[in-house]
Amino acid sequence: MSDITNSNASTTELPPQSPPDQSTRDQPTALIPGGSAGLGLVVAATFAQAGYRVIIVGRSQDRLDDAVEQLRQQHNATAITLVGDMTNRDDCQQIAQAVGQRCGRLDVLVNCIGVSDRGLVGELTAARVHELIDQNVVATLLCCQAMLPMLESSRGSIVNIGSLAGKVGARYLGGYNTAKHALTGLTQQMRLEWRDKGVHVGLVSPGPIRRDDAGTRYQHQTGNSALPGKASQPGGGTKVKGIEPQRVATAVLNCARNRKPDVILPGYLRLLIVVGNALPRLGDWLLLKFTS
Ligand SMILES: NC(=O)c1ccc[n+]([C@@H]2O[C@H](COP(=O)([O-])OP(=O)(O)OC[C@H]3O[C@@H](n4cnc5c(N)ncnc54)[C@H](OP(=O)(O)O)[C@@H]3O)[C@@H](O)[C@H]2O)c1
Repeated sequence: MSDITNSNASTTELPPQSPPDQSTRDQPTALIPGGSAGLGLVVAATFAQAGYRVIIVGRSQDRLDDAVEQLRQQHNATAITLVGDMTNRDDCQQIAQAVGQRCGRLDVLVNCIGVSDRGLVGELTAARVHELIDQNVVATLLCCQAMLPMLESSRGSIVNIGSLAGKVGARYLGGYNTAKHALTGLTQQMRLEWRDKGVHVGLVSPGPIRRDDAGTRYQHQTGNSALPGKASQPGGGTKVKGIEPQRVATAVLNCARNRKPDVILPGYLRLLIVVGNALPRLGDWLLLKFTS
């Protein structure tokens, strides 16, 4: 297990670093913005256990430190931590500089930053849409742009974490469908435009992921509105069963390793999505049935 290392890339000048030695340069590196909590933390553990040098990024150093402690205790793994707000272009550039200085290479970027929403479309405000686009789309765009030169050098891989809400437009999800559909389109455009650079870009779109606070996480958004109570449930009350986070993290690792373009979890939903796109009336009926 290597040393736990912290640095702050967002607000202070980076301290001078000696260039990475050969053993550091030989180890593949994975950068995980949003790796200090939730799915991102499980992805970090999975890549560390698969032999990657892992760097996790978040806005809170305390949260990053807690994450490193969990990695150490629960997975006998470690990670480098970098603080930055990935919706800020300068922070993304500083993170890229820090990764280059510390590791000398980048092989995989897994964009795990994103936030869901609850609400009726009739009550959705422009301000909320902007917030959700910033978190779910802009953070990924800016991070990918900043890391692209290193990923081109390694002929590496980007995996963006989407959602079923980026494939279908279920009820009660506020502005989340809008934001995740934008991410789906952005990911495909990146894949096509960066193909000739040797960079793979994949999208993993999971349904609701099992977690301790599932069901209570969005209660503050559903209490005072005309939304049905079930809207606070995972997926806005979908009948799709919560997926184990480890299953999603393993799919992310496989997506990067096998350069898969598009992964949907659970997999059987791909057929329903394809059928729904080809036959929209049936698609609406299926969606109402799966979310009633
Ligand atoms: N949870 C689910 O059921 C589910 C289902 C399908 C898809 N997804 C997708 O999976 C991804 C992870 O979701 P999650 O619920 O596991 O996330 P989460 O628990 O809310 O964790 C979000 C992580 O991102 C960091 N973060 C947030 N904004 C940031 C910013 N601007 N700059 C840098 N770091 C930032 C957070 O740390 P700080 O707050 O310290 O910055 C934290 O590490 C998201 O894209 C989500 O849409 C989730």
